[in-house]
Amino acid sequence: MITLTRPLASSALAMTLALAAPTLVQAQTRADAPIALRIDAGAPGAKIDRNIFGQFAEHLGTGIYGGVWVGKDSPIPNTRGVRKDVVEALRAIKVPNVRWPGGCFADEYHWRHGIGPAETRRKTINSNWGGAVEPNTFGTDEFMDFVDQIGSEAYVSVNLGSGTVQEAAEWLEYMTADPETTAGKERAANGRREPYKVKYLGLGNESWSCGGAMRPEYYTDEMKRYARFVRNYNPKQTGAEAMQRIAVGPNQGDTAYTEAVMAAQNGHDWAWNIEGLSLHSYTTGGWPPSYSSTSFDETAYAKLVKETLGMDGLIATHSAIMDKHDPEKKVPLVVDEWGLWLAPLPDTNPGFLVQQNSLRDAIVAALNINIFARHADRVRMTNIAQMVNVLQAMILTDKDKMVLTPTYHIFKMYLPFQDATFVPVKFEAGTYAQGDITLPRIDAVAVRDTQGKLWLAVTNLDPTRSASVLTDLAGAKASSARGQVLTAPRLDAVNTFAAPNAVAPKPYAAKAGAKGLSLDIPAKSIVVVQLEP
Ligand code: AHR
Repeated sequence: MITLTRPLASSALAMTLALAAPTLVQAQTRADAPIALRIDAGAPGAKIDRNIFGQFAEHLGTGIYGGVWVGKDSPIPNTRGVRKDVVEALRAIKVPNVRWPGGCFADEYHWRHGIGPAETRRKTINSNWGGAVEPNTFGTDEFMDFVDQIGSEAYVSVNLGSGTVQEAAEWLEYMTADPETTAGKERAANGRREPYKVKYLGLGNESWSCGGAMRPEYYTDEMKRYARFVRNYNPKQTGAEAMQRIAVGPNQGDTAYTEAVMAAQNGHDWAWNIEGLSLHSYTTGGWPPSYSSTSFDETAYAKLVKETLGMDGLIATHSAIMDKHDPEKKVPLVVDEWGLWLAPLPDTNPGFLVQQNSLRDAIVAALNINIFARHADRVRMTNIAQMVNVLQAMILTDKDKMVLTPTYHIFKMYLPFQDATFVPVKFEAGTYAQGDITLPRIDAVAVRDTQGKLWLAVTNLDPTRSASVLTDLAGAKASSARGQVLTAPRLDAVNTFAAPNAVAPKPYAAKAGAKGLSLDIPAKSIVVVQLEP
């Protein structure tokens, strides 16, 4: 394991600095001066839709089998086959929606393989992910039971790549039609009489690549047929509860799908529409992913953080195109795959995308959430990849053991941000430099929660310098701050089954002094606090 150190000044250099010209000394002083942070609570912005805290659960590695589903006869405590420990942990972060069954898997998924008595389920090959045998024991009814157990909404991605419109239409019929119909009777025979609620419907996945490598124009034509014919029959899903159809959109900065799909949406007629455009953007450090999740130096940290901050420009680029076609912002940008995609852990199946999750991941998660919050007028839903055991996971499991990752803790600390109102914050972030990479020293966002309370989240990106932040409520004073801080002695600190609390939130409190409310933000940390008047 490489120790994380910034290059220290040699004693000769240190001496030079001590005797240095005033400019050098002043630069040092300025960097350590308190950062003034002005919170303009009187100028509220957009609502931060709780759906930006959505999850993605694909049939991939042990993301479902082992991670969520252990089967009814398992010695691991479960409710109808779904792990109790995982359900409890997910309930605690109020997961707003779960995207399923993929990913690339979705465009080869045939839903009929995953319904009915266990002995009739077809065993297939998961050709996208490690060639594993897909037992189909976790299918539609199990997924719907799972989202019910965690108190979430279903985001179902239909197979537009290798399936047909009819197959997808019949799936929705199975899930949502009246119990007196043949499809509804089949559902009832499988244990569920009432129609399910399918709040979000994905019309394919990455159709520019694993979903069929389609030209944007071709995809757009196909997508319209799915948007038209794949109907939701649940009588309760009207008005605000109506199903939202999410079309495939851009890969990273490629704008071809954004242009084609949004131009089509702009010209849609009564017969079809979409209510979301997907964006996929991972932080990888290059392809194929080679950055380690357990052992990395500060340069690797800085590179990945810099790449993470690129999410802001990506959203701005796609939002500008969307604004052209949809100036009223009716169609949200749905970032339904994001997060760190790192090298697979040694001795794991590379097709299972297993990686650890460190304090760095927590910082990356917080920075992404901050970006989504700043774009809350257009970004109204996102799904981190992925929920359990895959990529930047919330939870890691191994047989009966479970551990919560640093990323999980961020999702929990940010709970007050769900459905909160964005509050503008102004500050000079200062800089943190590593080699030739320059990053902002801090990042901050503020919100007014649904109870009217003011919250501030500050991330200190610098691994070695704490930052002092002097808050100002645009005239009004804050008397105190109370919340939590997440940090650890090292950026590559991780939680393991043996040491599950190496990176865990700790209580944080501060009181106003003569100069106001000053918050000491430790190096490499995330602080989320409620500000009291
Ligand atoms: O999350 C892993 C994969 O990444 C998904 O299946 C696919 O949509 C994307 O390329």
